[in-house]
Amino acid sequence: MQVVISADYEEMSKAAAGVMAKVVRDKPTAVLGLATGSTPLGMYKELIRLHREEGLDFSGVTTFNLDEYVGLDGSHEQSYRYFMTENLFKDINVNIDSTNVPPGISDDFKASCAAYEEKIRDAGGIDVQVLGIGSDGHIAFNEPSSSLASRTRLKTLTQQTIDDNARFFETPEDVPVYCVTMGVGTILEAKKLILLASGAGKADAVADAVEGPVSSMCTASALQLHPDSIICLDTAAMGKLQMREYYQWVQDKRPGAPRWD
Ligand code: PGA
Repeated sequence: MQVVISADYEEMSKAAAGVMAKVVRDKPTAVLGLATGSTPLGMYKELIRLHREEGLDFSGVTTFNLDEYVGLDGSHEQSYRYFMTENLFKDINVNIDSTNVPPGISDDFKASCAAYEEKIRDAGGIDVQVLGIGSDGHIAFNEPSSSLASRTRLKTLTQQTIDDNARFFETPEDVPVYCVTMGVGTILEAKKLILLASGAGKADAVADAVEGPVSSMCTASALQLHPDSIICLDTAAMGKLQMREYYQWVQDKRPGAPRWD
């Protein structure tokens, strides 16, 4: 795991956008795994700036989002399809037909989840997957106790996630209880993972993910099993890491260090 430490949210967002932009420049037909939530917003703003000011071209990319609430269609303001349109897709030149969000409405979730997995495979797999982390250590909506081999499926949200996300809805009762989410196994198949976390409220979850045992009780800890994962943190989010001085030292040394990538 490569821990990348930034002074603040803005710097962290730019660092993450830089990783994404490099993937797109190196492979204009890249398959991008995208995430919703407050954390990636700054990264999306920077990607929009790179598109507008530096010509970063998204016309050949395909995207797959991690998750969607059950029962909300794409026109609902709290649906993740709507979020992606408003916060990224409408401001870059991605072909909207090449953007994919798991089905929030379906007559047969088992079949539509299997179809989502198949579509990812048919696209050649995900080149880089963006992840946030929940205060309970979840990635996507893989709540504590989710199998580390899980695939895209229906999932019931925990009370903690419902409470965390209630700020986006008029009342806590409006937060959907069910979602469709890529599984941990699905996520681990992406070629590169980039997890973003900002603020002291994420410090415990980050410490469990990076330094705790690999456990279904913190599904972000599964990133320890991945050969190419980048953890982008601001200083508040790294506050509980035991090895934080080491990560900082590695980063400070990095300019002169032998390069292998
Ligand atoms: P947040 O959500 O970015 O809004 O904190 C992260 C998550 O739950 O994955």
